[in-house]
Amino acid sequence: MASITVRNLDDSVKDLLRQLAAQNGVSMEEQLRLMIRDGVTGRLPAAGSSQPQPVATATRAPGDASGTLAGKRVLLIISGGIAAYKSLDLIRRLRERGTAVRCVMTAAAQEFVTALSVGALSADHVFSDLFDRQDEHDIGHIRLSREADLIVVAPATADLMAKAANGLANDLASTVLLATDKPVLMAPAMNPRMWNHKATRRNRATLEKDGIALVGPNSGEMAESGEAGAGRMAEPLEIVAAIEALLAPGPKPLAGRRIIVTSGPTHEPIDPVRYIANRSSGKQGHAIAAALARLGADVRLVSGPVSIADPEGVSTVHVERAEEMRDVVEQLLPADAAIFVAAVADWRTASSAGEKIKKQAGNGPPSLKMVENPDILAGIGHHRQRPYLVIGFAAETENLLANAQAKLAKKGADFIVANDVSHAGGVMGGDRNRVRIVAKSGVEDWPDMTKEDVAARLAELVAERLKSVEV
Ligand code: CTP
Repeated sequence: MASITVRNLDDSVKDLLRQLAAQNGVSMEEQLRLMIRDGVTGRLPAAGSSQPQPVATATRAPGDASGTLAGKRVLLIISGGIAAYKSLDLIRRLRERGTAVRCVMTAAAQEFVTALSVGALSADHVFSDLFDRQDEHDIGHIRLSREADLIVVAPATADLMAKAANGLANDLASTVLLATDKPVLMAPAMNPRMWNHKATRRNRATLEKDGIALVGPNSGEMAESGEAGAGRMAEPLEIVAAIEALLAPGPKPLAGRRIIVTSGPTHEPIDPVRYIANRSSGKQGHAIAAALARLGADVRLVSGPVSIADPEGVSTVHVERAEEMRDVVEQLLPADAAIFVAAVADWRTASSAGEKIKKQAGNGPPSLKMVENPDILAGIGHHRQRPYLVIGFAAETENLLANAQAKLAKKGADFIVANDVSHAGGVMGGDRNRVRIVAKSGVEDWPDMTKEDVAARLAELVAERLKSVEV
């Protein structure tokens, strides 16, 4: 009997095998064996099958189809960017969850991944041509949209975003986007300069105003060497989470709860051009506000000056100085909970000069008289309208636990989230955090995780604490 060896396969088939094998962490020979087995047992469409599988009944990975995405139908538009390779993994992750995935590829996308790979992973025909009436799979852009619960564009290139923002429709992908009445989620991926270009910013704003949801992009190294910044496509699991949030919104244990969050640094003016500040980026506080909102809370975020965007679904008030932050927080009372994440400046100058302080020969540097800022957390912790739950943070560089315990008592908080902000830890401005939750009853250590994960876990803790309190 003749035997098949990988070496004898066509190059295009070898490419597909290589990608699938890499994704599944097996050898190319093992991948081939699995595919033949799946073909024989009917897990893949039989060779030569001419009809596309109905999306609603697409194959589900065994044992993993009971989640919130099971039975949902996603139309995935892949446009042309290096990140298209990650879309292969996205297809796999969605199908593992029992989601049917049908794909549309732009012409440029096919320069990065093959329709063969996409078709094999989605177990469906791949659509790319707007006018191919000869194609027996032609089902038209309207039907493609009608047979989906959600349209996901990943990667969403600057070009496709521009087309969608301006209502252009000159290929199948853009036509589907113009003709659909289904929710749309885009995962942008592009060079940071393109992402920050005024034109892309305008298009982003238009798309968001039109109700299109965006996930990412993330910051970091780009595939092109030497490039870094915001523009990397969100990771497949982040996109899955965003799909879940849109298609299968989770429980809202914080619905009807009003929660105040402070975030970022404060700037204390010295004169009209100089100020005292600190290294807080606002990432942790903003992530907490977003996580609480996802659980249904009515979140009021009071943010000092930061360079990150206001979180989704949160009402944000921007302030500069500690006194302003205190005033806004007090105006926002009553609330069910308040979480103080801001790195508030402890001191301000006694009076800010009305004009720029000039150097004066022979006089030396000006002496700045400093006065203490109000402690916002302590004020609310002892307020007559004290929220039921008050949580503070403790940024420490030494004696973390002892200092956090002292702050718990002094500031009237229920919990102190203590983190080590010594320079080596890279917490301030970084994306990860390792915290200890300090309460009167004891201390809980959380492992090192992303600031988003800390936020999600803290939001769960808040929900748990407020569960038995009457709204
Ligand atoms: N905080 C506040 N208002 C201030 C100072 C701090 O609301 N003027 C809050 C912070 O938001 C945080 C907690 O108090 O939740 C602890 O902040 P931290 O800077 O760690 O402590 P400090 O009170 O400033 O004490 P120290 O600087 O001595 O560590």
